[in-house]
Amino acid sequence: MPPAGNRPRRRKSGGKAWDGRFREPTDPLVEAFSNSLESDLEMAEQDIRGSIAHVHALERAGLLKRSEAGRITSGLRRVEREIRDGRFRSRPADEDVHMAVERRLTEMVGPVGGKVHTGRSRNDQVATDLRLWLRDQIDGTLADLAALERSLLRRARSDLGVVVPGYTHLQRAQPVLLSHHWLAYAEMLERDRSRLVDARRRVNVLPLGAGALSGAGFRLNRRAVARELEFDEVSENSLDAVSDRDFVVEFLSAAALIAAHLSRLSEEIVLWSSQEFGFLLLPDAFATGSSMMPQKKNPDVAELVRGRTGKVYGALVSVLTTLKGLPLAYNRDLQEDKPPLFDATRSVRACLAVLARMLPRLSVDAGRMREAAGGFSLATELADYLVERGMPFREAHAVVGRIVSDCLDQGRELCDLGTADLRSFSELFEPAARRRLSVDAAIARRSLVGGTAQSNVERRIAELEAALAPARRKRRRTR
Ligand code: ARG
Repeated sequence: MPPAGNRPRRRKSGGKAWDGRFREPTDPLVEAFSNSLESDLEMAEQDIRGSIAHVHALERAGLLKRSEAGRITSGLRRVEREIRDGRFRSRPADEDVHMAVERRLTEMVGPVGGKVHTGRSRNDQVATDLRLWLRDQIDGTLADLAALERSLLRRARSDLGVVVPGYTHLQRAQPVLLSHHWLAYAEMLERDRSRLVDARRRVNVLPLGAGALSGAGFRLNRRAVARELEFDEVSENSLDAVSDRDFVVEFLSAAALIAAHLSRLSEEIVLWSSQEFGFLLLPDAFATGSSMMPQKKNPDVAELVRGRTGKVYGALVSVLTTLKGLPLAYNRDLQEDKPPLFDATRSVRACLAVLARMLPRLSVDAGRMREAAGGFSLATELADYLVERGMPFREAHAVVGRIVSDCLDQGRELCDLGTADLRSFSELFEPAARRRLSVDAAIARRSLVGGTAQSNVERRIAELEAALAPARRKRRRTR
């Protein structure tokens, strides 16, 4: 210890909210370096909600008089209004949202404000805030997913009867209904929703009461706090409660898959709206021009959705990496979870919203799609015809392969072939075989569960519409 004369003088307002332990103010560079207020003000509402529930717990435990609890909660509500209305002014020493709120509260209500942090640490506080925030965002994302799914289902209904080539390797493969194509994305979103519902169960656990790491030193009724904040459970281990962010990772991995799905859909919108495909026409309100080339109409919305996938994946990897190697319990590294989580959540939700709005406005060139769907994409139909007449599939595949190759040599299409032409490849061909060379017949035959036949597609649209209906009701309830 330096001799008394050399000791830095205690500064009353050294910038630290509790400067008993410290003899010099925080270095301004450190203050700026460690400050997270700009990002975590995002959780101000949750922070205050959590604090009010904590005040009620303190009151129930006899640690706050009723009048004190009343003054603190009304002060907290005033701070909340200030923040909401943009009247809140932060100070450099407001290291994070928790300290900013408490500092302002104490300015408003006086020293009694200093009682709000009884039996609590910012460690269990931030974990609580983050879980509350994420729970709200999951509910919002579920609603956004449902809205996009509804857009897809409406498209699937209105595009019934439109035929499009189905692709593998981006080569025309077999015809499918455009509605079936839209429904493929609806199925992806269904799974995305169920992943979020599942992740939400593990998000919705109350950490408050864990204290800094070992549990609060007062007998607070955690179950009552959980009830007030609508948590389903209370955390069972204080060390775990303040230090794990696996629930963030789970959400981000679900978000990464949503981004992947949206990116695939966007990629198709980019391709299909190109002059090469010419399947889709973008609404002017959702396209942009070029600063140099007057003829251009660019699918920027779809490209940006595709492009934002990178930051969502990045957020997942960022948080996973932050967690790796952290000893129990809380470490300040954990502060780094929020910016990527907030950013990724905002991105995914914005992408869902813009696609839901754009999809109904796409115009489809059904003629061009149908034209592209036929031709050699019907080769499998001929092979199936031979199989029905007893030929082993491998042999039928080879026979039709020779027919295709012959057609290509002669510049003919399958539908140009007469029965005699077909019979020169196999005696099993009868006149009825030519009827199989129709896009509609090919689609109609695929009526098994999961196939592209219209009956099947219509049934699935109805099922998915019904699955979405209760989600809509639930949302209204929670508002
Ligand atoms: N801003 C911090 C975070 O986001 C809050 C917890 C700070 N706790 C601490 N012991 N420094 O993680």
